[in-house]
Amino acid sequence: MLKIVKQLELGIDLGTSNTLVYLKNRGVIFDEPSYIVFDKRNLNIIAIGKEAKKMVGRAPQYLNVVKPINFGIVTDFESTTNYLTKILEIINKEYFSLLRPKAIIGIPLNLTEVQIRGVIDAGISAGFKDVYTIEQPIAAALGGNLDIDEAKGLMIVDIGGGTTEISVISLGGIVTGKSIKIAGDRFNSSFLNYIRLKHNLIVGESQIEEAKIKIGSIVGKNNLFNLRGRDTLTTLPKEITISSHDLREAISPLLIDLIDEIKDILNITPAELIGDIVSRGIYLTGGGSLIEGLSEFMENELNVKVNKLENPLHSVVLGLGKIIENFEHYKKFCYSNSKVNI
Ligand SMILES: Nc1ncnc2c1ncn2[C@@H]1O[C@H](COP(=O)(O)OP(=O)(O)OP(=O)(O)O)[C@@H](O)[C@H]1O
Ligand SMILES: [Mg+2]
Repeated sequence: MLKIVKQLELGIDLGTSNTLVYLKNRGVIFDEPSYIVFDKRNLNIIAIGKEAKKMVGRAPQYLNVVKPINFGIVTDFESTTNYLTKILEIINKEYFSLLRPKAIIGIPLNLTEVQIRGVIDAGISAGFKDVYTIEQPIAAALGGNLDIDEAKGLMIVDIGGGTTEISVISLGGIVTGKSIKIAGDRFNSSFLNYIRLKHNLIVGESQIEEAKIKIGSIVGKNNLFNLRGRDTLTTLPKEITISSHDLREAISPLLIDLIDEIKDILNITPAELIGDIVSRGIYLTGGGSLIEGLSEFMENELNVKVNKLENPLHSVVLGLGKIIENFEHYKKFCYSNSKVNI
């Protein structure tokens, strides 16, 4: 009898901020911001990724700069399909021709079936033959070389751009967990509001993001950064110097809320698993976790050790890569498009 091997070729972390793609036998071959720019007049794609992100807030009226994924959800189906099609085109040009490849896409926790269907259908419309999905925390744990098969509790907190996934995994499945909207983008918007209210300055998002990355620290350091924008009182251009202290003040209410959400999940986690979590510590990943001192802050607030995964921006895609390279072993953790029926 002919054995049909369902070979997965691509793993995609379709993040709110960044998209990463793992190609079987090759590794991570695409790592770019999740943006696409269209020409409004003819709907031609002008740029994706880094080139597209550079145009945020700077594009002329005839261009439409789109962030197709928000909170890990496909919020713009057409743009997501075009975005994935373009990525496939790049792979076909730079690597080798993949004729209707099979792909696995990491999805946030608690998506509705309609939202899962949105991710799958965008992939199918872009030209994938089959689309498998897996919960991002499982992929992140695999990517961090954590053993997910064990009958032991493993808590992983993935602070991304749009969402933070808080979850407890045991025996390869999510026992308790949720996806919340406190993550890098919310840090940026709080910081932006704070600068407007405290310093009467309106600045562009890209400067706020740069400042967060360069001077973001919640351990008492006070690095400085110059912001240029428009004074809200005089409406004239103005430059100010802000410090790490400003960022701390702006995002600390969000960090307190984040800690409360983690406590809520710990509260509903079975006691046996809590024992495992206390002895191993919590695992922290995602780009949002890169703010200096965040793990120490969490340790103090939660009274549990917090371990940082080595490669926080890559843990999900590396986990997808592991699944692709050893699908027979990991397929039990994945969902195929045929299992999502609505
Ligand atoms: N050094 C840094 N310090 C602080 N924040 C950072 C740093 N580097 C990246 N970030 C933030 O990390 C976020 C992106 O992280 P990541 O790539 O894990 O998100 P994502 O997977 O695209 O989003 P999501 O998982 O929510 O869909 C952005 O908000 C970015 O500003
Ligand atoms: Mg992510």
